[in-house]
Amino acid sequence: MVQVTPFLLVLSLALGAQSFSPRRCNLIGNWVNDLGSRMEILAVDGDGGFSGSYLTAVTASTNEIQKSPLQGSLQRKNQKGQPTFGFTVNWTFSDSITVFTGQCFLDKDGNEVLKTMWLLRSRVDDIEDDWKATRVGTNIFTRVRRQME
Ligand code: BTN
Repeated sequence: MVQVTPFLLVLSLALGAQSFSPRRCNLIGNWVNDLGSRMEILAVDGDGGFSGSYLTAVTASTNEIQKSPLQGSLQRKNQKGQPTFGFTVNWTFSDSITVFTGQCFLDKDGNEVLKTMWLLRSRVDDIEDDWKATRVGTNIFTRVRRQME
């Protein structure tokens, strides 16, 4: 009995740790990026299509920020985990569109990380201004866990 107790303790710690560190990267849920923007991905369908919402922390416009819809696609061909994906945010408060592409990784601690690149296309009045209408950048998203109450 004296030897069984430490074994059970180690086992329960190991099982508990597993539930915090998933072995597969899954897009569904709530995410925050390095700018403080938040997004929620609601569900991924059988073809890899997904939808959700995006609340950006910053804007290139002068308009008041509003939560905006996103539509994306997860690559399902690869069954080895750490899938690639892309999504579009159609901003409801500006006349811009952003496309993100990225990969869902597990980091060295087993935490999910979305490494992305984006193109933000702003509307310009004149074709002569096309050269300055697209911004490019990167964002890193980590999962937002529900706080314990
Ligand atoms: C706009 O300014 O017209 C719409 C908002 C754009 C926000 C950009 S999208 C890329 C970058 N990552 C974010 O989380 N927000 C900015």
